[in-house]
Amino acid sequence: MTGKPDDKLKILFVASEAAPFVKVGGLGEVMNSLPRALRKIGHDARVLVPKYATIDVERYPLETELNNIRVESGDKDPFGILVSNVLRYKSADGGVNYFLENMEYYEKRANVYGYSDDTVRWVLLSKASLEFVKKSSWKPDVIVASDWQTGFIPNLVHTDYKDDPILSKIPVVFSIHNLKYQGMFDPRFVSEMDHDSGQAPISDFFDPRTLKLSGMRRGIMYADVINTVSPTYAREILTEEFGEGLNALLSERKSRLFGILNGINTESLNPETDKDLVANYSIKSLNKKLENQKALQKQFGLPATEGDIFVVGMVGRMDGQKGFDIVTQMLGPLMDNINFQFVIVGEGDAGYRMYFEQLKEKYPNRVGTHFAFDARLPRMIFGGADAVLIPSKYEPSGLVQMEAMRYGCVPIVRKVGGLADSVEDFTPEKEEGTGFVFEKYDPFSLTIAVIRASELYRQKKEWEKLMKRAMAKDFSWEKSAREYIKLFEMALRFHRESQ
Ligand code: GLC
Repeated sequence: MTGKPDDKLKILFVASEAAPFVKVGGLGEVMNSLPRALRKIGHDARVLVPKYATIDVERYPLETELNNIRVESGDKDPFGILVSNVLRYKSADGGVNYFLENMEYYEKRANVYGYSDDTVRWVLLSKASLEFVKKSSWKPDVIVASDWQTGFIPNLVHTDYKDDPILSKIPVVFSIHNLKYQGMFDPRFVSEMDHDSGQAPISDFFDPRTLKLSGMRRGIMYADVINTVSPTYAREILTEEFGEGLNALLSERKSRLFGILNGINTESLNPETDKDLVANYSIKSLNKKLENQKALQKQFGLPATEGDIFVVGMVGRMDGQKGFDIVTQMLGPLMDNINFQFVIVGEGDAGYRMYFEQLKEKYPNRVGTHFAFDARLPRMIFGGADAVLIPSKYEPSGLVQMEAMRYGCVPIVRKVGGLADSVEDFTPEKEEGTGFVFEKYDPFSLTIAVIRASELYRQKKEWEKLMKRAMAKDFSWEKSAREYIKLFEMALRFHRESQ
């Protein structure tokens, strides 16, 4: 491996989730589409995730790759050794996915996250993936660990394995998809006694200290290169407002910190071919969107309109990050004052759910809800709604705004993270912009953005131009995948220089 730009790289991603096998959030999506994009430009990118019980092995038949991956679990374990296997799935594009099989820690658990021994499960994933690399005949040039769950990988490579003839040669990139989650504790409330400085060795599996390890801090401390999923978020996390208590550490490592905006899968997300739309359309046949709007209204039990009522949607996890605190302050008063329809699909916080249920009771003809994950509904919303609301408190990248724009659904977003990097505010003077952007995290600023949008919506010609500008944006992965390659090459260089 010489590190020349046209060299084919072998890249191993290790993560807690990867679509289409197992997906909880955006990380899972990226672990599907980014390796695929890297393969398309000629590199060999593979992903290793645990083999959870929920993985559909009938649909994705798995073969054995390597048995007997041994990880030391420490003195407190009567056996002292945990044995796992690695299975393999080859996808249609030739891509290889690996699955770490362990009955106790993954197979017996129905969910990906949320167990009292989660840290142990991720330390096992981190250690076993490195043992796998040692034994495997396929050796990656670079390992990419993502989020706190695999932050132990850069740590181990630079401490326990620092003299290992194989692993010491491989640089580790640490990708931050969400800085807030750092371990099994809330970083804002961690006591001094429980503080993990990241200096001490990773404790044994059954040592109570293990549950207090900060995978995020350790990942940032030890990685050769750190990246996050948009340039703006990479800058924001150096500040106290967005740094989640790690801004000082990140500032120390600033010369190794980069931001690359996520892409979206433009093949499967295509209004011209999407089978879940009642009418396919392109930038040239936007009039067909009305049929999709009617289908959407029907789906949510709302009266069908003739394209004369502004329809606004919201898609995704109902969680504080996504701005629900300000939405629930302004939506009611706005409904009282202007006529529009609102539909929401997403799982999450019961308090927010109750708010929307009550709003629906008050405005049964104007509010539609669906509080569970659904593979089809988000695209029905992008196809049928006029605008989508994403007023996030913080947003490392965000995928919904890019997906919506591809379908000509205008995003109304807060100017943070990846939202700031992908949506330009509408400027009437210059006929520019691809959505509506507001700055301050408060219900007034959000309300003003929605009103600006609903006013422009009434000027049909202007609105259509805005939709077209949004649809013309290219958010395919290829550009970002090339930036990742540059990042990997940089990691190789840094790593070589440090030896
Ligand atoms: C996390 C972030 C989101 C990002 C996704 C994929 O879910 O909150 O902004 O798009 O990861 O990187």
